[in-house]
Amino acid sequence: DGTGAPARPSPAAGLPGAAAGRRAPAPLGLVAELTHRCPLQCTYCANPVELTRQRDELDTEQWQRILDRARGLGVLQVHLTGGEPLLRHDLAAIVAHARGLGLYTNLITSGLPLDAARAAELAAAGLDHVQLSVQDADPLRADAVAGLTRLTGPTGHARKLAAAALLTGAGLPLTVNAVLHRGNLARLGAIADLAVELGADRVELAHTQFYGWAWVNRAHLAPGEEQVRQAGRDVAEARARHGDRIEITHVAADHHGGTAKPCMNGWGSEQLVVAPDGTVLPCLAAAQLPGPALPNAVTDGLAASWYDSPAFNRYRGTDWMPEPCRSCELREQDHGGCRCQAFQFTGDPGVTDPACRFSPHHHLVRAQTTPAPTPAPVPRRFTAAVPPAPDPA
Ligand code: FES
Repeated sequence: DGTGAPARPSPAAGLPGAAAGRRAPAPLGLVAELTHRCPLQCTYCANPVELTRQRDELDTEQWQRILDRARGLGVLQVHLTGGEPLLRHDLAAIVAHARGLGLYTNLITSGLPLDAARAAELAAAGLDHVQLSVQDADPLRADAVAGLTRLTGPTGHARKLAAAALLTGAGLPLTVNAVLHRGNLARLGAIADLAVELGADRVELAHTQFYGWAWVNRAHLAPGEEQVRQAGRDVAEARARHGDRIEITHVAADHHGGTAKPCMNGWGSEQLVVAPDGTVLPCLAAAQLPGPALPNAVTDGLAASWYDSPAFNRYRGTDWMPEPCRSCELREQDHGGCRCQAFQFTGDPGVTDPACRFSPHHHLVRAQTTPAPTPAPVPRRFTAAVPPAPDPA
């Protein structure tokens, strides 16, 4: 980085655990946010409310150098995401470069800008897998939550179905992903059925992760307790209905159940995120956190960002943990939960995740799981008047 992508740099003095001879592990995955531009305006989007403009996006060569450095660090998988990565005309060149390095390449897309030539181009570039989003099994509701109600011609939903056919036709393995929320949970089973019809190998039914726009719109999106219980039953029925024809993954609802999720499988432990302008983050939502400045992949390099930056070292391991995490037997499994969730609920990213029933702030999460009267949601966009968050107390 800056001096040529060392494969295994020496641990920096001051790393948590360095005195005991431990060091940060090498990262396994790189989440490459190629752009924040997107034809959709999903109210549940986890992108930051402060979106990066096109003029600040990295160029092709900069992304290719980042991929070189990521591979040098030990990264094996790259997730190409956004925004909508298909809006980058150099996407195939980025895929081809990653494959040339031996990286597994996963494209996360809405599918809207896809045509047959693009699908063939990406397959020829060596793309390994595509994750295609659908919003609902009901076309009108799908387009409504994605802000696509003013489209002329085929609906956004219909375009996604066409994209799925193009992708499978090009021989690309397909996962269908649906973000679940109060407005579409009633059709969870129908979404699984749709994924089977589309020829997907896998469907990921993932409850909304409340970051970015989804956090702004949480009063609109958060499901009630009974909806969450019913979702579990609907997933079981879908698995029974479809057997081995498709793998059905169910990502549990945030804020229900009284346990903290092992966010990112531990801060600075397995994955790093590079934002469209090169900012390097330990997770997709970390730009909102107070504390040390975030490093940049171009100016600071990836190795220095991963191993040496205060932002990555701040919550590594267990030394940073307060009680009740510090003495909890689950601390190596849930890693104290999610730092961003802790910040969003309490203003302090260094406390136990309030999703945990042992957190002194757990009542704030419990209050959210009771659906509030539905306000108008705020669509994701570059400039939006975002209403202030309701007082959690
Ligand atoms: Fe940032 Fe969980 S999303 S730590």
